[in-house]
Amino acid sequence: MSEQQQSLLDHNYDGIQEYDNPTPGWWNWLFAASIVFSFFYFVFFHIGGAGWTTEDEHSAALARNVRLLYGDLKLTGDEPTLLKYMNEPDWMAVGQAVFVQHCAQCHQKDGSGINGVNLTDDHYKNVKKISDIPGIVRAGAANGSMPAWGTKLHPNDIVLVSAYVAAMRGNNIPGRAAEGEVIPPWPEYVAPQVEDDAAAPDTPAESEE
Ligand code: HEC
Repeated sequence: MSEQQQSLLDHNYDGIQEYDNPTPGWWNWLFAASIVFSFFYFVFFHIGGAGWTTEDEHSAALARNVRLLYGDLKLTGDEPTLLKYMNEPDWMAVGQAVFVQHCAQCHQKDGSGINGVNLTDDHYKNVKKISDIPGIVRAGAANGSMPAWGTKLHPNDIVLVSAYVAAMRGNNIPGRAAEGEVIPPWPEYVAPQVEDDAAAPDTPAESEE
């Protein structure tokens, strides 16, 4: 250590004296730089645009996981399929991830709309019944101001994002003003009955030997 750094301070605590040993310049700069960095980090990863935040990354990872189940699964965009998947939170992770990545730039993450219409109210321009949604997503609308996704997304992704959009209805988030007509509510979803004892696979039919 240099003489300068070791200059003895005036005070004296019960005979104990201190050297003046300031933190080095590089350390101070690093400290200041980390504060500046944290500001950008916070903006980017916590309130950032669509697809940037840690939360979005988590939902994209969940979606990748669920997609592993696609296998031979071919979802049709009919009414029972949409109603079923709307009520399956695991599968809706895929719908959400697709929406955040491809649709939020126009419809907002929460569906409240900017240059795309508000998807959270009861008004629709191109949709009369729930099963119209996948068709609009595939083919687009208004001469491409709503782009066609038919060739850009996996067919199952289209059905799942459509179910996700259908589920946004009724959230009524203030955003872009309502456009189009009020349409009848979606049909009610009746979960399939699980017959607990008759179908239970653990019936010990062959257990006696
Ligand atoms: C480039 C902007 C843009 C993107 C990206 C976009 N949309 Fe749209 N979307 C629109 C516009 C604009 C309309 C309204 C079309 C019209 O006026 O008929 C619309 C309409 C819709 C409708 C019909 C709503 C109604 O009232 O009839 C649905 C459903 C929809 N979008 C879903 C999606 C989904 C799902 C995605 C992502 C896969 C998506 N959109 C991506 C701009 C966009």
